[in-house]
Amino acid sequence: MSNDSFSQNMDKILVHGGHTLEGTVRISGSKNSALPILAASLLTRDSCTIHRVPDLSDIHYMLTILSELGCDVERASGTVKINADSITTAAPYDIVRKMRASVCILGPLIGREKEATVSLPGGCVIGDRPIDLHLRGFEALGAAVRVVQGNVKVLAPQLRGATINMRGRFGSTVLGTDNLMMAAVLADGTTIIDGAAEEPEVVDLANFLQKMGAKIEGAGSSRIIIEGVKKLHGCEHTVIPDRIEAGTFLIAGAISGGNLLLKRVDPSHLGAVIEPLIKSGYHIESGTDTLRISPNGNRKSMKLETEPFPGFPTDMQAQMCALLAGSDGISVVTENVFPQRYMHVAELKRMGADIELQGATAVIRGVPKLSGAPVMASDLRASAALVLAGLQADGITEINRVYHIDRGYESIDEKLNEVGAHIERVKA
Ligand code: EPU
Repeated sequence: MSNDSFSQNMDKILVHGGHTLEGTVRISGSKNSALPILAASLLTRDSCTIHRVPDLSDIHYMLTILSELGCDVERASGTVKINADSITTAAPYDIVRKMRASVCILGPLIGREKEATVSLPGGCVIGDRPIDLHLRGFEALGAAVRVVQGNVKVLAPQLRGATINMRGRFGSTVLGTDNLMMAAVLADGTTIIDGAAEEPEVVDLANFLQKMGAKIEGAGSSRIIIEGVKKLHGCEHTVIPDRIEAGTFLIAGAISGGNLLLKRVDPSHLGAVIEPLIKSGYHIESGTDTLRISPNGNRKSMKLETEPFPGFPTDMQAQMCALLAGSDGISVVTENVFPQRYMHVAELKRMGADIELQGATAVIRGVPKLSGAPVMASDLRASAALVLAGLQADGITEINRVYHIDRGYESIDEKLNEVGAHIERVKA
């Protein structure tokens, strides 16, 4: 993907429905691991080399922010080398506003430079996404936080370890936990993060920080203990597989009634997605780093709720709705992490789905067949759901605003075509 993706291209995707998928898909490195790991390279003056960084527009945004802060960034295929020897501490609004995950440069900047200015993230189609928990965490470490003209300014002349509970109204916070961990690794003394997010991406970041010389215990549990060190050094790291991309391809296999082998996955990250699929009638085989899905004759309804890891991920909710729209019986899906994350529902209904929203719950009455229609992508996972719906629909589904999908899926159209889908990308 070129840097043209910055201009939010207006390409369309045309999905010709009804093709059975068969073959092998190689899963990319995790977007949500790579973003904070790239930001964490700000913590040292040495170079960091990061492998398996996916080629996505969100990654381009992060690399551009790092360049603007003064880092030397080299990229060759999936490997990125970053040197943050000499940096500034204020990130330009124009780039930051394009991606909410930019907020994760705050932790490393205040950890290393004792100050940071980043524009406050704006609204987001998946709901209100505050950063109060991040800021509360920085304050507990002794930082002063101010919001001035739309920017968050954090001053932290002396960061001191503290015990902090990061759990909010909707559970723990992933990027908040990341941010606090990145600030605390260079603080004086011990920091204990209670109510920490337990997502595999938090563990991957902790592993990266440990390779840099940080002292961290407990990542992957709800209590993370960090012993501050004076200095960190460069390191080399390979990003974990993208569990949400893998989950999306599992559903592509389920929807098309085909037989898909996913390679370079970590099945232990996908238990909450695999289990309901098996219960609903699919046959799934797990290997060390592979997953195979094949049909088993029926597609049953299910009841599920999104929860922080190890529960069913909010980032798979839209894709699951697309599957259930064409499954037998009545399914009930409740979104507990981002209760308003249902932008895909109106679009799926345009394709003939029978879905009723009751607050944060979607009641889905399976229909025998969806029909292709022009639809609008609204956010990353909603767009993936529309591609999946298109795979099972009669006729052609025309998905507009596909720049959303390019933020988080590496060549989804090409990967699906390689296993038998018929998807065209029409350049704007
Ligand atoms: N929240 C607060 N205050 C905060 C932070 C979060 O109230 O200061 C709330 C949120 O509004 C939400 C809940 O806490 O209701 C969880 O949000 P979280 O902070 O965990 O989300 P995030 O860290 O901003 C990451 C992923 C999202 C994913 C969520 C939940 C990245 C770059 N993003 O966001 O991924 O949905 O965790 O798992 O890691 C995606 O990839 O499509 C995506 C949106």
